[in-house]
Amino acid sequence: MDLESIKIILKKYNQEHLLVKYNELTEDKKEELLNQISNVNFEQIEELYKKSMKKEEKKDEKIEPIEYIDKVKLSKDEYNKYFSIGVEEIKKGKLGVVTMAGGQGTRLGHNGPKGTFMLGTTPNKSLFEILCDGLKRAKEKYNVEIPWYIMTSVENNKETVEFFEKNNYFDYPKNNFKFFIQGELPMLSTSGKVLLNEDGLVKLAADGHGGIFEAMFKNNVIEDMKKRGLEWIFIGPVDNPLVKMVDELLIGIAISNKTMAAGKSLVKISPEEKVGVFCKKNGKPGVIEYTEISEEMANKKDKKGELEYGESHINCNMFNIKAIEEIGNNKLPYHSAFKKANYIDENGEVVKAQEPNSFKYESFIFDAFEKLDKMTILRVKREEEFAPVKNPTGIDSAESARELYNKFHNIKKT
Ligand code: UD1
Repeated sequence: MDLESIKIILKKYNQEHLLVKYNELTEDKKEELLNQISNVNFEQIEELYKKSMKKEEKKDEKIEPIEYIDKVKLSKDEYNKYFSIGVEEIKKGKLGVVTMAGGQGTRLGHNGPKGTFMLGTTPNKSLFEILCDGLKRAKEKYNVEIPWYIMTSVENNKETVEFFEKNNYFDYPKNNFKFFIQGELPMLSTSGKVLLNEDGLVKLAADGHGGIFEAMFKNNVIEDMKKRGLEWIFIGPVDNPLVKMVDELLIGIAISNKTMAAGKSLVKISPEEKVGVFCKKNGKPGVIEYTEISEEMANKKDKKGELEYGESHINCNMFNIKAIEEIGNNKLPYHSAFKKANYIDENGEVVKAQEPNSFKYESFIFDAFEKLDKMTILRVKREEEFAPVKNPTGIDSAESARELYNKFHNIKKT
């Protein structure tokens, strides 16, 4: 679109400030800005802004606890049966894994893609390498090469790919890797203006891991998965060095239960723990995120004295490829977060954020569960599968994760 057509659009949506720095930009940047603006869906922006400003009305939603299968309560026969079904699928090459690695290590104090964070193990390994170890073990055990799809963001894609190149893909065969970039959305001011970055371009931010389905379609990931004959796709986080991407049991139970998706849970430590919890929303599987659960619900206990909503969601989920295809055609809702952002205002002045001052929009992968009639929830052991790396020190930090990792792998301190 040319400058004149862009001006008409901006006027219509009251976003004319987006050209405030236009004349100062280089020819390349001018073109980039026009391109960015023509890609903004201003109708959607208006909707999102309205949603942020409106106090979220309580939807008429019936929330109930969800059924789960406890791994430790399976009989030996059940365990072996499920496990061997899973093994067969893996050996037949039906499993693929996806890592959501669009996040930066900002909260962690790491300057770069979160997966490049060195955990401080002996030998010292990055989160990406630790994840890759799991695939190498499976290759050895089952003689299969499980394809690894890595979702990055515009912000960190280049650095991520370079990191893998530099590390020779951790000696896992390179043809098993595919990187794809997640989508972005503009950030908005409290008056609904699309933010302009300090470089004079639109301020875009990653649109949350719920964008994964759309991104997989757009980047021909689904096509690649189908070509390779994959049937079960594990989707997990980058920031948990105990993530079990190859889980025979989970596959076996999902197949035996005839469900198209399965997720792992663990017992929530306390009502305050920063984890989402599985539940049923109007009879369908769902997750209530920790930022959105009411205090009453978080504290509610059942007859046994356990948290009624105590099945923590740890972002370790598996989908049948057919379910992904189905979900991919549906838009997931956006959640808005109030964040700090520096930007250029309508007068061309730089605004430095002292406190949260703008809206960021993200969709969550687990909102997709509601599109499915049922899913299998497998409660696993915390010490075997969960070592979140979120903060620089204290709870859920590199230090606590390193300790959990060492303990699980029986690595003695040196
Ligand atoms: C997340 C879960 C929460 C769960 C907890 C367990 C969300 C929204 N919430 O919280 O339910 O109990 O982990 O540790 O996920 N990512 C992207 N692109 C994005 C945003 C995130 O790839 O746009 C990736 C991150 O790199 C990371 C994962 O998604 O691998 C989790 O994201 P994060 O925003 O750190 O979630 P938490 O707040 O820790």
